[in-house]
Amino acid sequence: STGMITIDPGFKNTGSCESAITFLDGEKGMLRYRGYAIEELAEKADFLEVAYLLIFGELPNKEQLNTFHEDIKAESQVDEEMKKILDGFPKSAHPMGVLSSLTSALIAFNPTSVNISSEKDMYHSIVKILGKFPVLVAWTMRKKKGLPLDYGDDNLGYVENLHKMMFKKPSKEYKCNKIIIDALDKLLILHADHEQNCSTSAVRITGSSHAGLFVSLSAGISALWGPLHGGANQAVIEMLEGIQKDGGDTHKYMAKAKDKNDEFRLMGFGHRVYKNFDPRARIIKKAADEVLEDLGIVDPILDIAKRLEKVALEDPYFVERNLYPNVDFYSGIIYRALGIPREMFTVMFAMGRLPGWIAQWREMRLNHEPIGRPRQVYIGETYRPFKPLEER
Ligand code: SDX
Repeated sequence: STGMITIDPGFKNTGSCESAITFLDGEKGMLRYRGYAIEELAEKADFLEVAYLLIFGELPNKEQLNTFHEDIKAESQVDEEMKKILDGFPKSAHPMGVLSSLTSALIAFNPTSVNISSEKDMYHSIVKILGKFPVLVAWTMRKKKGLPLDYGDDNLGYVENLHKMMFKKPSKEYKCNKIIIDALDKLLILHADHEQNCSTSAVRITGSSHAGLFVSLSAGISALWGPLHGGANQAVIEMLEGIQKDGGDTHKYMAKAKDKNDEFRLMGFGHRVYKNFDPRARIIKKAADEVLEDLGIVDPILDIAKRLEKVALEDPYFVERNLYPNVDFYSGIIYRALGIPREMFTVMFAMGRLPGWIAQWREMRLNHEPIGRPRQVYIGETYRPFKPLEER
Protein backbone atom coordinates (compact mmCIF):
# COMPACT_ATOMS: atom_id res chain seq x y z
CA SER A 1 0.00 0.00 0.00
CA THR A 2 1.34 3.47 -0.70
CA GLY A 3 -0.13 4.81 2.58
CA MET A 4 1.84 7.28 4.74
CA ILE A 5 5.31 5.85 5.51
CA THR A 6 6.66 7.05 8.87
CA ILE A 7 10.42 6.79 9.47
CA ASP A 8 11.49 5.55 12.88
CA PRO A 9 15.34 5.69 13.06
CA GLY A 10 16.73 2.82 15.13
CA PHE A 11 13.16 1.50 15.41
CA LYS A 12 12.81 3.31 18.77
CA ASN A 13 9.01 3.16 18.51
CA THR A 14 8.56 0.16 16.24
CA GLY A 15 7.57 -3.34 17.30
CA SER A 16 9.03 -5.89 14.85
CA CYS A 17 7.15 -8.97 16.02
CA GLU A 18 5.05 -10.65 18.70
CA SER A 19 7.21 -12.85 20.90
CA ALA A 20 6.66 -15.13 23.88
CA ILE A 21 10.30 -15.55 24.84
CA THR A 22 11.59 -12.58 26.89
CA PHE A 23 9.80 -9.80 28.76
CA LEU A 24 11.49 -6.49 29.64
CA ASP A 25 10.04 -3.67 31.71
CA GLY A 26 12.32 -0.69 31.01
CA GLU A 27 10.73 1.58 33.61
CA LYS A 28 10.94 -0.91 36.46
CA GLY A 29 14.16 -2.58 35.25
CA MET A 30 12.64 -6.06 35.04
CA LEU A 31 13.75 -9.00 32.86
CA ARG A 32 12.02 -12.41 32.56
CA TYR A 33 12.76 -15.43 30.33
CA ARG A 34 9.50 -17.27 29.52
CA GLY A 35 7.95 -15.72 32.65
CA TYR A 36 10.75 -16.60 35.07
CA ALA A 37 12.59 -13.67 36.76
CA ILE A 38 16.25 -13.27 35.77
CA GLU A 39 17.18 -12.96 39.47
CA GLU A 40 15.78 -16.44 40.17
CA LEU A 41 17.24 -18.06 37.06
CA ALA A 42 20.70 -16.57 37.75
CA GLU A 43 20.61 -17.97 41.27
CA LYS A 44 18.86 -21.32 40.85
CA ALA A 45 19.24 -22.54 37.24
CA ASP A 46 22.21 -23.50 35.10
CA PHE A 47 22.99 -22.28 31.60
CA LEU A 48 21.91 -25.43 29.74
CA GLU A 49 18.56 -25.47 31.59
CA VAL A 50 18.03 -21.81 30.66
CA ALA A 51 18.96 -22.56 27.03
CA TYR A 52 16.29 -25.28 26.96
CA LEU A 53 13.76 -22.94 28.62
CA LEU A 54 14.38 -20.14 26.11
CA ILE A 55 14.29 -22.39 23.05
CA PHE A 56 11.43 -24.76 23.95
CA GLY A 57 9.45 -22.60 26.40
CA GLU A 58 9.50 -24.77 29.54
CA LEU A 59 12.07 -25.65 32.20
CA PRO A 60 13.19 -29.20 31.34
CA ASN A 61 12.64 -32.11 33.72
CA LYS A 62 15.60 -34.36 34.52
CA GLU A 63 15.05 -36.68 31.59
CA GLN A 64 14.50 -33.88 29.05
CA LEU A 65 17.64 -32.08 30.24
CA ASN A 66 19.69 -35.25 30.06
CA THR A 67 18.49 -36.11 26.55
CA PHE A 68 19.14 -32.52 25.43
CA HIS A 69 22.69 -32.64 26.77
CA GLU A 70 23.35 -36.07 25.24
CA ASP A 71 22.06 -34.88 21.84
CA ILE A 72 24.34 -31.84 22.11
CA LYS A 73 27.39 -33.93 23.09
CA ALA A 74 26.74 -36.19 20.08
CA GLU A 75 27.20 -33.11 17.87
CA SER A 76 30.17 -31.53 19.62
CA GLN A 77 32.79 -32.61 17.06
CA VAL A 78 33.95 -29.92 14.65
CA ASP A 79 35.29 -31.20 11.32
CA GLU A 80 39.10 -31.22 11.45
CA GLU A 81 39.19 -29.38 8.12
CA MET A 82 37.66 -26.35 9.83
CA LYS A 83 41.10 -25.84 11.37
CA LYS A 84 42.38 -24.79 7.94
CA ILE A 85 39.99 -21.81 8.10
CA LEU A 86 41.13 -20.98 11.64
CA ASP A 87 44.78 -21.25 10.56
CA GLY A 88 44.06 -18.83 7.72
CA PHE A 89 43.61 -15.99 10.23
CA PRO A 90 46.56 -13.97 11.55
CA LYS A 91 46.99 -14.14 15.34
CA SER A 92 46.11 -10.45 15.44
CA ALA A 93 42.60 -11.15 14.09
CA HIS A 94 39.85 -10.08 16.48
CA PRO A 95 38.12 -13.19 17.86
CA MET A 96 34.67 -11.85 16.92
CA GLY A 97 35.65 -11.76 13.24
CA VAL A 98 37.04 -15.28 13.51
CA LEU A 99 33.92 -16.54 15.32
CA SER A 100 31.43 -15.09 12.82
CA SER A 101 33.48 -16.58 9.94
CA LEU A 102 33.80 -20.01 11.51
CA THR A 103 30.08 -20.04 12.39
CA SER A 104 29.02 -19.47 8.78
CA ALA A 105 31.78 -21.84 7.56
CA LEU A 106 30.10 -24.63 9.56
CA ILE A 107 27.50 -24.75 6.80
CA ALA A 108 30.10 -26.19 4.40
CA PHE A 109 30.52 -29.17 6.72
CA ASN A 110 26.85 -29.49 7.68
CA PRO A 111 24.97 -29.12 4.37
CA THR A 112 21.74 -30.48 5.86
CA SER A 113 21.51 -27.33 7.95
CA VAL A 114 21.03 -25.13 4.91
CA ASN A 115 17.30 -25.64 4.22
CA ILE A 116 15.47 -26.31 7.44
CA SER A 117 11.81 -27.15 6.91
CA SER A 118 10.63 -29.59 9.59
CA GLU A 119 10.83 -29.16 13.35
CA LYS A 120 12.97 -32.31 13.34
CA ASP A 121 15.53 -30.65 11.05
CA MET A 122 15.32 -27.57 13.25
CA TYR A 123 16.03 -29.56 16.42
CA HIS A 124 18.98 -31.26 14.69
CA SER A 125 20.50 -27.92 13.63
CA ILE A 126 19.91 -26.52 17.11
CA VAL A 127 21.79 -29.29 18.94
CA LYS A 128 24.50 -29.15 16.29
CA ILE A 129 25.27 -25.49 16.88
CA LEU A 130 24.93 -25.85 20.68
CA GLY A 131 27.50 -28.66 20.45
CA LYS A 132 29.92 -26.96 18.09
CA PHE A 133 29.77 -23.31 19.20
CA PRO A 134 31.68 -23.83 22.49
CA VAL A 135 34.45 -25.51 20.45
CA LEU A 136 34.62 -22.50 18.10
CA VAL A 137 34.60 -20.10 21.07
CA ALA A 138 37.48 -22.03 22.66
CA TRP A 139 39.34 -22.14 19.32
CA THR A 140 39.24 -18.33 19.05
CA MET A 141 40.81 -18.04 22.49
CA ARG A 142 43.49 -20.70 21.87
CA LYS A 143 44.38 -18.97 18.60
CA LYS A 144 44.70 -15.59 20.32
CA LYS A 145 46.94 -17.11 23.02
CA GLY A 146 48.96 -19.28 20.63
CA LEU A 147 47.89 -22.46 22.46
CA PRO A 148 47.22 -25.82 20.74
CA LEU A 149 43.53 -26.57 20.29
CA ASP A 150 41.98 -28.72 22.98
CA TYR A 151 39.13 -31.25 22.61
CA GLY A 152 36.09 -31.37 24.85
CA ASP A 153 35.37 -33.96 27.50
CA ASP A 154 31.91 -35.56 27.45
CA ASN A 155 32.11 -36.28 31.16
CA LEU A 156 32.05 -32.58 32.00
CA GLY A 157 29.06 -30.26 32.30
CA TYR A 158 28.31 -27.91 29.39
CA VAL A 159 29.95 -24.80 30.85
CA GLU A 160 32.73 -26.80 32.52
CA ASN A 161 33.57 -28.33 29.14
CA LEU A 162 33.68 -24.86 27.54
CA HIS A 163 36.03 -23.69 30.29
CA LYS A 164 38.25 -26.77 29.89
CA MET A 165 38.58 -26.28 26.12
CA MET A 166 39.43 -22.61 26.71
CA PHE A 167 41.89 -22.99 29.56
CA LYS A 168 43.35 -26.50 29.85
CA LYS A 169 47.13 -26.26 29.66
CA PRO A 170 48.55 -28.89 27.24
CA SER A 171 50.80 -30.47 29.82
CA LYS A 172 48.62 -30.14 32.91
CA GLU A 173 45.62 -32.03 34.30
CA TYR A 174 42.42 -29.94 33.98
CA LYS A 175 41.18 -28.95 37.45
CA CYS A 176 37.69 -27.51 37.64
CA ASN A 177 37.27 -24.65 40.08
CA LYS A 178 33.59 -24.53 41.11
CA ILE A 179 33.73 -20.80 41.89
CA ILE A 180 34.92 -20.06 38.35
CA ILE A 181 32.43 -22.40 36.66
CA ASP A 182 29.52 -21.02 38.70
CA ALA A 183 30.54 -17.44 37.87
CA LEU A 184 30.80 -18.26 34.15
CA ASP A 185 27.49 -20.12 34.21
CA LYS A 186 25.76 -17.15 35.86
CA LEU A 187 27.26 -14.67 33.36
CA LEU A 188 26.10 -16.80 30.42
CA ILE A 189 22.55 -16.98 31.86
CA LEU A 190 22.49 -13.18 32.28
CA HIS A 191 23.40 -12.72 28.61
CA ALA A 192 21.11 -15.44 27.25
CA ASP A 193 18.37 -13.29 25.68
CA HIS A 194 17.12 -9.72 25.61
CA GLU A 195 14.10 -9.55 23.24
CA GLN A 196 14.55 -7.55 20.01
CA ASN A 197 18.01 -6.00 20.52
CA CYS A 198 20.23 -5.14 17.54
CA SER A 199 21.92 -8.53 17.08
CA THR A 200 18.73 -10.53 17.67
CA SER A 201 16.99 -8.37 15.07
CA ALA A 202 19.86 -9.20 12.69
CA VAL A 203 19.35 -12.92 13.35
CA ARG A 204 15.59 -12.69 12.83
CA ILE A 205 15.70 -10.62 9.64
CA THR A 206 18.47 -12.79 8.15
CA GLY A 207 16.49 -15.94 8.99
CA SER A 208 13.30 -14.38 7.60
CA SER A 209 14.68 -14.99 4.08
CA HIS A 210 14.90 -18.69 5.12
CA ALA A 211 18.67 -18.49 5.25
CA GLY A 212 19.85 -21.28 7.56
CA LEU A 213 20.34 -21.07 11.33
CA PHE A 214 24.16 -20.98 11.29
CA VAL A 215 24.43 -18.09 8.83
CA SER A 216 21.69 -16.19 10.68
CA LEU A 217 23.71 -16.59 13.88
CA SER A 218 26.80 -15.36 12.03
CA ALA A 219 24.88 -12.17 11.18
CA GLY A 220 24.03 -11.80 14.86
CA ILE A 221 27.66 -12.22 15.90
CA SER A 222 28.68 -9.49 13.47
CA ALA A 223 26.02 -7.08 14.76
CA LEU A 224 26.94 -7.85 18.39
CA TRP A 225 30.57 -6.87 17.75
CA GLY A 226 29.79 -3.14 17.53
CA PRO A 227 30.97 -1.02 20.51
CA LEU A 228 27.44 0.38 20.93
CA HIS A 229 26.20 -3.19 21.53
CA GLY A 230 28.08 -6.25 22.78
CA GLY A 231 31.47 -4.72 21.97
CA ALA A 232 30.83 -2.34 24.89
CA ASN A 233 32.10 -4.85 27.47
CA GLN A 234 35.60 -4.69 25.97
CA ALA A 235 35.33 -0.89 25.57
CA VAL A 236 34.39 -0.50 29.27
CA ILE A 237 37.60 -2.13 30.46
CA GLU A 238 39.67 -0.04 28.05
CA MET A 239 37.89 3.09 29.33
CA LEU A 240 38.46 2.13 32.99
CA GLU A 241 42.15 1.45 32.29
CA GLY A 242 42.34 4.85 30.62
CA ILE A 243 40.90 6.45 33.77
CA GLN A 244 43.36 4.48 35.89
CA LYS A 245 46.27 5.76 33.75
CA ASP A 246 44.91 9.30 34.20
CA GLY A 247 45.27 8.86 37.97
CA GLY A 248 41.62 7.85 38.44
CA ASP A 249 40.30 11.18 37.12
CA THR A 250 36.66 10.19 36.56
CA HIS A 251 35.57 13.83 36.12
CA LYS A 252 37.64 14.22 32.95
CA TYR A 253 35.81 11.26 31.39
CA MET A 254 32.45 12.48 32.62
CA ALA A 255 33.13 15.83 30.93
CA LYS A 256 34.05 14.05 27.70
CA ALA A 257 30.90 11.91 27.92
CA LYS A 258 28.73 15.05 28.16
CA ASP A 259 30.58 17.03 25.51
CA LYS A 260 28.42 16.97 22.38
CA ASN A 261 31.51 17.65 20.25
CA ASP A 262 33.27 14.63 21.68
CA GLU A 263 31.98 11.33 20.34
CA PHE A 264 33.26 9.59 23.49
CA ARG A 265 30.47 7.92 25.48
CA LEU A 266 30.58 6.47 28.96
CA MET A 267 30.77 2.85 27.86
CA GLY A 268 28.60 0.44 29.84
CA PHE A 269 26.08 3.21 30.54
CA GLY A 270 22.68 3.84 28.99
CA HIS A 271 20.18 1.57 27.33
CA ARG A 272 17.46 1.82 24.70
CA VAL A 273 14.88 0.11 26.91
CA TYR A 274 16.04 0.32 30.53
CA LYS A 275 15.40 3.78 32.01
CA ASN A 276 16.32 2.33 35.39
CA PHE A 277 19.04 -0.01 36.57
CA ASP A 278 19.64 -2.91 34.17
CA PRO A 279 18.75 -5.84 36.48
CA ARG A 280 21.66 -7.78 35.00
CA ALA A 281 24.08 -5.01 36.00
CA ARG A 282 22.87 -5.25 39.61
CA ILE A 283 23.47 -9.01 39.68
CA ILE A 284 26.87 -8.79 37.94
CA LYS A 285 28.05 -5.97 40.25
CA LYS A 286 27.25 -8.16 43.28
CA ALA A 287 28.86 -11.22 41.63
CA ALA A 288 32.02 -9.22 40.85
CA ASP A 289 32.56 -8.52 44.55
CA GLU A 290 31.90 -12.17 45.44
CA VAL A 291 34.06 -13.72 42.70
CA LEU A 292 37.04 -11.42 43.31
CA GLU A 293 36.82 -12.05 47.05
CA ASP A 294 36.46 -15.84 46.58
CA LEU A 295 39.45 -15.85 44.21
CA GLY A 296 41.42 -13.52 46.47
CA ILE A 297 41.81 -10.97 43.68
CA VAL A 298 42.04 -7.22 44.28
CA ASP A 299 41.38 -5.32 41.06
CA PRO A 300 41.70 -1.50 41.32
CA ILE A 301 39.61 -1.25 38.14
CA LEU A 302 36.57 -2.43 40.16
CA ASP A 303 36.96 0.47 42.57
CA ILE A 304 37.27 2.90 39.66
CA ALA A 305 34.10 1.40 38.13
CA LYS A 306 32.18 1.85 41.38
CA ARG A 307 33.41 5.42 41.79
CA LEU A 308 32.48 6.22 38.20
CA GLU A 309 29.02 4.72 38.69
CA LYS A 310 28.47 6.85 41.80
CA VAL A 311 29.58 10.04 40.03
CA ALA A 312 27.41 9.29 36.97
CA LEU A 313 24.30 8.47 38.99
CA GLU A 314 24.57 11.85 40.73
CA ASP A 315 25.25 13.81 37.54
CA PRO A 316 22.23 15.85 36.28
CA TYR A 317 23.10 15.13 32.60
CA PHE A 318 22.93 11.39 33.27
CA VAL A 319 20.00 11.59 35.68
CA GLU A 320 17.77 13.54 33.28
CA ARG A 321 18.59 11.07 30.48
CA ASN A 322 18.00 8.04 32.74
CA LEU A 323 21.48 6.72 32.08
CA TYR A 324 22.30 3.76 34.33
CA PRO A 325 24.96 1.02 34.19
CA ASN A 326 23.99 -1.74 31.75
CA VAL A 327 24.97 -5.41 31.46
CA ASP A 328 28.36 -4.49 29.98
CA PHE A 329 29.54 -2.20 32.75
CA TYR A 330 30.75 -4.79 35.29
CA SER A 331 30.93 -7.99 33.25
CA GLY A 332 34.47 -7.33 32.02
CA ILE A 333 35.70 -7.15 35.65
CA ILE A 334 34.62 -10.75 36.19
CA TYR A 335 35.95 -11.95 32.83
CA ARG A 336 39.33 -10.43 33.78
CA ALA A 337 39.26 -12.21 37.13
CA LEU A 338 38.57 -15.47 35.25
CA GLY A 339 41.66 -14.88 33.11
CA ILE A 340 39.73 -14.19 29.89
CA PRO A 341 41.55 -11.72 27.59
CA ARG A 342 39.61 -8.53 26.78
CA GLU A 343 39.34 -9.33 23.05
CA MET A 344 37.36 -12.40 24.15
CA PHE A 345 34.78 -10.48 26.22
CA THR A 346 32.33 -10.02 23.35
CA VAL A 347 32.86 -13.64 22.29
CA MET A 348 31.68 -14.60 25.80
CA PHE A 349 28.64 -12.36 25.27
CA ALA A 350 27.94 -14.23 21.99
CA MET A 351 28.29 -17.58 23.81
CA GLY A 352 25.73 -16.43 26.37
CA ARG A 353 23.37 -15.00 23.73
CA LEU A 354 23.47 -18.13 21.56
CA PRO A 355 20.37 -19.80 23.06
CA GLY A 356 18.43 -16.53 22.84
CA TRP A 357 19.32 -16.06 19.19
CA ILE A 358 18.34 -19.70 18.51
CA ALA A 359 15.03 -19.29 20.39
CA GLN A 360 14.16 -16.09 18.51
CA TRP A 361 15.12 -17.59 15.11
CA ARG A 362 13.02 -20.71 15.85
CA GLU A 363 10.01 -18.62 16.96
CA MET A 364 10.26 -16.49 13.80
CA ARG A 365 10.30 -19.62 11.58
CA LEU A 366 7.54 -21.47 13.48
CA ASN A 367 5.39 -18.34 13.25
CA HIS A 368 5.98 -18.28 9.48
CA GLU A 369 6.97 -14.59 9.76
CA PRO A 370 7.16 -12.87 6.34
CA ILE A 371 10.56 -11.84 4.95
CA GLY A 372 11.72 -8.61 6.57
CA ARG A 373 11.53 -5.87 3.96
CA PRO A 374 10.85 -2.34 5.33
CA ARG A 375 10.06 0.67 3.07
CA GLN A 376 11.71 4.14 3.03
CA VAL A 377 10.97 7.78 2.29
CA TYR A 378 12.91 8.69 -0.88
CA ILE A 379 14.77 12.04 -0.59
CA GLY A 380 17.15 11.69 -3.55
CA GLU A 381 17.20 13.29 -7.06
CA THR A 382 14.04 13.50 -9.15
CA TYR A 383 14.16 12.13 -12.72
CA ARG A 384 17.08 13.28 -14.84
CA PRO A 385 18.11 12.05 -18.38
CA PHE A 386 21.42 10.18 -18.82
CA LYS A 387 24.42 12.46 -19.55
CA PRO A 388 27.04 11.01 -21.94
CA LEU A 389 30.60 10.89 -20.59
CA GLU A 390 31.90 13.67 -22.89
CA GLU A 391 29.28 16.05 -21.51
CA ARG A 392 30.15 15.54 -17.78
C1 SDX B 1 23.85 -3.85 25.04
O1 SDX B 1 19.28 -3.40 23.17
C2 SDX B 1 19.72 -4.28 24.03
O2 SDX B 1 18.97 -4.93 24.75
C3 SDX B 1 21.24 -4.37 24.12
C4 SDX B 1 21.77 -5.26 25.25
C5 SDX B 1 21.40 -6.73 25.05
O3 SDX B 1 21.36 -7.47 26.07
O4 SDX B 1 21.24 -7.15 23.84
O5 SDX B 1 21.26 -4.80 26.48
C6 SDX B 1 23.30 -5.22 25.30
O6 SDX B 1 24.18 -3.54 23.92
C7 SDX B 1 23.93 -2.85 26.18
C8 SDX B 1 24.42 -1.45 25.72
C9 SDX B 1 25.95 -1.49 25.56
N1 SDX B 1 26.39 -0.20 24.93
C10 SDX B 1 27.08 0.73 25.64
O7 SDX B 1 27.27 0.67 26.85
C11 SDX B 1 27.57 1.91 24.80
C12 SDX B 1 27.23 3.24 25.50
N2 SDX B 1 25.77 3.38 25.46
C13 SDX B 1 25.21 4.24 24.44
O8 SDX B 1 25.87 4.22 23.21
C14 SDX B 1 23.68 4.18 24.36
O9 SDX B 1 23.23 4.38 25.64
C15 SDX B 1 22.99 2.97 23.78
C16 SDX B 1 23.53 2.61 22.44
C17 SDX B 1 23.09 1.80 24.70
C18 SDX B 1 21.50 3.33 23.63
O10 SDX B 1 21.44 4.32 22.68
P1 SDX B 1 20.05 5.06 22.31
O11 SDX B 1 18.89 4.35 22.92
O12 SDX B 1 20.05 5.28 20.83
O13 SDX B 1 20.14 6.41 23.09
P2 SDX B 1 20.72 7.78 22.50
O14 SDX B 1 22.05 7.52 21.82
O15 SDX B 1 19.66 8.46 21.72
O16 SDX B 1 21.01 8.60 23.85
C19 SDX B 1 20.00 9.39 24.46
C20 SDX B 1 20.76 10.56 25.07
C21 SDX B 1 21.67 11.28 24.07
O17 SDX B 1 21.84 12.60 24.56
P3 SDX B 1 20.85 13.76 23.89
O18 SDX B 1 21.08 13.71 22.39
O19 SDX B 1 19.45 13.39 24.31
O20 SDX B 1 21.35 15.06 24.51
O21 SDX B 1 21.65 10.07 26.12
C22 SDX B 1 23.01 10.30 25.71
C23 SDX B 1 23.00 10.58 24.22
O22 SDX B 1 24.09 11.44 23.87
N3 SDX B 1 23.74 9.06 26.01
C24 SDX B 1 24.96 9.00 26.55
C25 SDX B 1 25.23 7.63 26.72
N4 SDX B 1 24.19 6.91 26.29
C26 SDX B 1 23.26 7.79 25.86
N5 SDX B 1 25.83 9.98 26.88
C27 SDX B 1 27.01 9.56 27.40
N6 SDX B 1 27.37 8.26 27.61
C28 SDX B 1 26.49 7.27 27.27
N7 SDX B 1 26.81 6.01 27.47
